[in-house]
Amino acid sequence: MSKNFQGLEKIPRHVALIMDGNGRWAQKRGLSRIEGHKEGAQSVRAVLRAAAQAGVEFITVYAFSTENWKRPPAEIDGLMKLLIHSLNEYEQELHDNGIRLRVMGQFERLPLPVRMRLQKTMDATAHYTGHTLIIALSYGSRTEIADATRKMAEKVKAGTMKPSQINEQTLTEHLYLPDVPDPELMIRTSGELRLSNFLLWQLSYAEFYITDVYWPDFREEEFFHALEAFNGRDRRYGGVDNK
Ligand code: IPE
Ligand code: IPE
Ligand code: MG
Repeated sequence: MSKNFQGLEKIPRHVALIMDGNGRWAQKRGLSRIEGHKEGAQSVRAVLRAAAQAGVEFITVYAFSTENWKRPPAEIDGLMKLLIHSLNEYEQELHDNGIRLRVMGQFERLPLPVRMRLQKTMDATAHYTGHTLIIALSYGSRTEIADATRKMAEKVKAGTMKPSQINEQTLTEHLYLPDVPDPELMIRTSGELRLSNFLLWQLSYAEFYITDVYWPDFREEEFFHALEAFNGRDRRYGGVDNK
């Protein structure tokens, strides 16, 4: 059953998602963690479709954090293989819906076959302008901000930037994807009340929606609930309520 996204008054331009709880979803069913990740990949597909239907322009999914390198090598390997498999399976859907694929994070740290597979789809979808899927991979917000700071310091040293030019806007311009607007809504599944090093700068004024639902169970209906909740929020940005 398709949800009536058209009935919603406000649609965020950019929604960021912390896809958490794959392991617990699998454990509850006596399955391996990788089975949970596989089912989670289906949720990405469902959310992507729903978001396109609702008119959301940018979706950012946190797929692998800089901290996730601490996981057992077999799980990391399984996740990387699943990423390649998912791109093989769903690339056509990106074309069907005019969705551009972009990646944010430490691209060079990813295994070569993963980089090559991602690059192929990024190149093949680069001309789409209506919708964008951003996958955060080997992503850590503190590293991103530190890298941006270093880039500016190098410019100052080279004399191409003045210290007085360092401000919110120029720092933003040195982040991984400077042209992408800040997310207005951040969704985290599986009930954890933390950011886990995700988009610390970009989420400064985002609305948070935390649900106990595990990521593999987060599909169109759940996405609709999140947008409904967003519609009920009063965004004051530090001002006074003028209702
Ligand atoms: C999220 O699910 C996916 C990744 C972090 C790659 P988890 O693997 O963190 O699942 P839980 O939190 O252990 O249930
Ligand atoms: C956050 O989930 C990272 C991703 C969803 C990729 P984690 O499961 O790694 O985060 P923690 O360990 O609960 O902070
Ligand atoms: Mg987790």
